[in-house]
Amino acid sequence: VELVLPEGTVVRLLTDRGTFSPDHIDEGTKALLAHGQPSPRGGTLVDLGAGYGPIAIALAMRAPAAEVWAVEVNQRARELCERNARTLGLGERLTVIDPDGWPDLTTIDELWSNPPIRIGKAALHDLLTRWLDRLTPATGRAYLVVQKHLGADSLARWLTDQGWPTTRLARRGAYRILQVEARP
Ligand SMILES: C[S@@+](CC[C@H](N)C(=O)[O-])C[C@H]1O[C@@H](n2cnc3c(N)ncnc32)[C@H](O)[C@@H]1O
Repeated sequence: VELVLPEGTVVRLLTDRGTFSPDHIDEGTKALLAHGQPSPRGGTLVDLGAGYGPIAIALAMRAPAAEVWAVEVNQRARELCERNARTLGLGERLTVIDPDGWPDLTTIDELWSNPPIRIGKAALHDLLTRWLDRLTPATGRAYLVVQKHLGADSLARWLTDQGWPTTRLARRGAYRILQVEARP
């Protein structure tokens, strides 16, 4: 598939059946990438639920000083993400891991995600709790894209209630972009 970034960069990514959105870049992913840029300061950036890698790869291209981690549970998607990063010369700065592979002493400056809403509310809450508590205290931020009809507003309320200050940064068609701050 072709990943076209709003700044004009075009890259081709290898996909396969059995991975998320293999025929085209997902509209939610496009909305997230159109909305914002990672900080130019670099740091540790995570794409949670990376699939074959469109968000992680865009982060690595847009933030040359950053170390990017792509976290993905599906092995085939991990292989494709790794291969796509290598083909684009980003393999040195983009590490692909399964969800248990996180080096626990590292904190996350920015977490970007088109999260797996369809795993169900309880599993999604567990997943977000696990990863949002790895944000760098005070300064860490997460950027999530969620469809309104898949519960963007109730997810934002739940996050705020759990202690992560959450704001709706933007609406893009059916999608909402949420910004989540580290909880004290
Ligand atoms: C909505 S898709 C987004 C994929 C990719 N970021 C994109 O934009 O095309 C969510 C991804 O999360 C992955 N996923 C599901 N459960 C997960 C978990 N517990 N940890 C990490 N990734 C998970 C799915 O396999 C899927 O690839």
